[in-house]
Amino acid sequence: MSAAVLEQTLEHLKSLKLYKMVERLEGVLEEASKQEWTYADVIGRLVEEQALAKRDRGIAMRTTMARFPYLKTLENFDFKFQPSVDQKRVKELALCHFIEHGENVIFLGPPGVGKTHLAIALGIRAIHGGYPVLFTSAQTLLGHLARAHQEGRLEEKLKAYQMAKLLIVDEIGYIPIERSGANLFFQLVSRRYEKGAMILTSNQSFTKWGEVFGDSVIATAILDRLLHHSTVLNIKGESYRLREKKKAGFWEEKPEKEEA
Ligand SMILES: Nc1ncnc2c1ncn2[C@@H]1O[C@H](COP(=O)(O)OP(=O)(O)O)[C@@H](O)[C@H]1O
Ligand SMILES: [Mg+2]
Repeated sequence: MSAAVLEQTLEHLKSLKLYKMVERLEGVLEEASKQEWTYADVIGRLVEEQALAKRDRGIAMRTTMARFPYLKTLENFDFKFQPSVDQKRVKELALCHFIEHGENVIFLGPPGVGKTHLAIALGIRAIHGGYPVLFTSAQTLLGHLARAHQEGRLEEKLKAYQMAKLLIVDEIGYIPIERSGANLFFQLVSRRYEKGAMILTSNQSFTKWGEVFGDSVIATAILDRLLHHSTVLNIKGESYRLREKKKAGFWEEKPEKEEA
């Protein structure tokens, strides 16, 4: 390729915003002459690198927009430590069919058993699958909905939450929800029903959700929609956090007090 043609090609690639090809054109041509690549090989390589760069940018952008509190993957999860987690089911969920069908996943269990970790890990898989994801805690979500409601922007806010094909709501049940909050959450769940997938985590069993939402009628209506198409994973086990503390010797198991 002559210097003039190279210059012109680079200009065209820039105007087409194919910046990865701009960056790699000369290097690929050099490699091609050394390895005796065909023209098809050269074009194939350049287009592939551009496509991969676009995919990686999409993943990075969706990861930032998801607002995960930290990044955890399924590969980081020790399934042996938590045998009550059905590894096969989690791996199947990681294929993201539940997102395509607007279904829900609910992780229940005591603190430290990996609910948030698994929710984030599935969220990351969804991002790699091309889905927009949003992570929020129940408290933050309800705070935002309440403010939007007060300011007459509820409709707008509910629509904004609809943009995420997967909405993760962490920590339902840690803090009691007021009746008005329960109503707002019901509206969100109704909007997403059969349209947008959700992953929820809670330390409270469903029988306690009446207390969590301060109203058993609303709680039943919420559960009715959430559970219609859903996978519930009930994690029963030891806290991973405490295991690490125990290993480090910061935590001692106290013998049970005997009843007098
Ligand atoms: N089985 C596990 N394998 C690896 N790390 C785990 C496991 N379970 C929990 N953790 C880690 O322990 C910490 C607490 O887990 P987390 O998901 O926040 O628990 P939960 O949300 O159930 O309270 C996190 O740092 C998480 O990555
Ligand atoms: Mg958690």
